[in-house]
Amino acid sequence: MIEPVYTPSADRYENGMEYRRCGRSGIRLPLISLGLWHNFGSHQSMQNVKAMAHFAFDKGICHFDLANNYGPEYGTAEENFGRLMKESFAPYRDELFISTKAGHDMWPGMYGEWGSRKYLMASLDQSLRRMGLDYVDIFYSHRYDPDTPLEETLQALVDIVRQGKALYVGISKYPPEAARFAFRYLSQQHVPCLLFQGRYNIIDRHDETGGVLDLCQENGSGYIAFSPLQQGLLTNRYLDGIPEGSRMSENKFLKPEVLTPKMMEILRMLNDMARRRGQSFAQMSLSWLLQNPKVSSVIIGASSIGQIQDNLLALHASPFDEEERSAIDNISRPVWI
Ligand SMILES: NC(=O)c1ccc[n+]([C@@H]2O[C@H](COP(=O)([O-])OP(=O)(O)OC[C@H]3O[C@@H](n4cnc5c(N)ncnc54)[C@H](OP(=O)(O)O)[C@@H]3O)[C@@H](O)[C@H]2O)c1
Repeated sequence: MIEPVYTPSADRYENGMEYRRCGRSGIRLPLISLGLWHNFGSHQSMQNVKAMAHFAFDKGICHFDLANNYGPEYGTAEENFGRLMKESFAPYRDELFISTKAGHDMWPGMYGEWGSRKYLMASLDQSLRRMGLDYVDIFYSHRYDPDTPLEETLQALVDIVRQGKALYVGISKYPPEAARFAFRYLSQQHVPCLLFQGRYNIIDRHDETGGVLDLCQENGSGYIAFSPLQQGLLTNRYLDGIPEGSRMSENKFLKPEVLTPKMMEILRMLNDMARRRGQSFAQMSLSWLLQNPKVSSVIIGASSIGQIQDNLLALHASPFDEEERSAIDNISRPVWI
């Protein structure tokens, strides 16, 4: 049977999605972006991969975040995204903002991770082939490499833009001093950093307390938050145990050990507060981030359309008042990372 050709929703930009400008740049991103770290690789059903990506685009989510090693298996989220490009999204390429990254473990040997020019250049070429793209919209250095001269990593990013393989560049998880250096170096080369990508949510505030958010503002860079739900912890997912098939049940990136009695007490208190606000716990976690103007966008992960649907309602949340903000701070402070 021939599958019907995908036609995106005609009102995808009038569906309630909001768009926010990234630092000092011409780019506006949807407040909610979709990340393909988990649930989009070769171990997943292509039907669900397609359904989630189509649903997201239909709702105005035009930013998809990838990296070379997303899967599992490494590379397969990009391969599946390549299939989506070919079968669904090709006519809409100019409506999409697609990212990829290199920095973590990707292939064996001396040149398959960290921040060398050799790795970044080769990795991006591979990513483009897997996704069937001529260029990505943004290419990130995925992590700071303390052993490679930062100038080498950053100059590779600059040259990638000059080669036309990426339109913009970004950095992810850099410590503040390295980020400061990167912002200056890149702007001196006239390839300003478009985005800093960091983990930020109600219980992980190190980019806020360590000054990264302010540094981004001062340097005209946007800030995009990943794991806004702390991989599912800041939702109702684990309030009644560890569901089969959940990320925690895989015991890899999210370990059951985090569910200490103290953590459970805090999650329940946050969940109660969300209920009082008339929101799901996930919606409260996202709207807490989105109401901070220093955040350009949040990158959610999802394993079902229902989760994306739930999360999109965070866009219509009532503003937090001072009392609610300090209550969230007080409840969550004992487990701040
Ligand atoms: N730069 C970096 O180093 C870096 C690192 C990590 C992530 N990222 C990017 O950020 C993206 C998001 O990261 P993340 O997946 O950790 O984000 P997240 O949004 O914190 O967690 C996503 C997980 O939370 C659960 N979930 C989502 N919505 C839910 C809802 N409404 N109710 C209940 N549970 C819900 C799902 O878990 P189940 O799968 O168990 O259903 C989902 O897979 C990644 O895909 C990647 O693009 C970047």
